Amino acid sequence: MSLLRVVYYSRRRVDQDQDASADQMADILAASIAKNRLRGITGAMIMDRRWFVQVLEGRSADVTAAYERIAGDPRHSDIVLADSTPIDERRFPYWWMAGAAIEPQMSDLVRRWCEDTEFDPSRMTPRRLVDLTEAVVTAYMERPPVLGHGHPEASQPHA
Ligand SMILES: Cc1cc2nc3c(=O)[nH]c(=O)nc-3n(C[C@H](O)[C@H](O)[C@H](O)COP(=O)(O)O)c2cc1C
Repeated sequence: MSLLRVVYYSRRRVDQDQDASADQMADILAASIAKNRLRGITGAMIMDRRWFVQVLEGRSADVTAAYERIAGDPRHSDIVLADSTPIDERRFPYWWMAGAAIEPQMSDLVRRWCEDTEFDPSRMTPRRLVDLTEAVVTAYMERPPVLGHGHPEASQPHA
């Protein structure tokens, strides 16, 4: 089957007076997962205060249609298609879509993949964009749980 991988980056558009980053990512992921699984699209995305980066993989026509729909979403602007390549295998076969925000404690990842102290996708190769996206999402998933308000473990008695 011929598969396509698309990598793009874009500018986030957010209300400056409220930082609803986590909510925005959760909303986007919920809609993305529901739609992508129907179309066999997999991938990953990251964001910080200013940028989104997303990798989409799947059948060519499906990925192209999804990209065009996403490009029209008012939550971002200035979309740059960094790469569109036929692939033999998916990089993210298990994620209908996974996403994470780049957090301050991930600065070592940013330095390593961006070769810079600041995250600027316009200065990165597509390959490094995919590598950084995978590294950030994986780091997010592997971080220890924070016990606190709203976390399921917080309501359980400590041994
Ligand atoms: C950064 C970003 C990434 C998105 N990624 C996806 C995605 O992977 N799949 C998807 O179906 N929608 C994605 N969306 C949401 C779509 O733009 C759109 O809102 C959603 O698919 C619902 O479309 P509809 O209102 O035409 O049904 C993304 C939106 C943004 C801002």
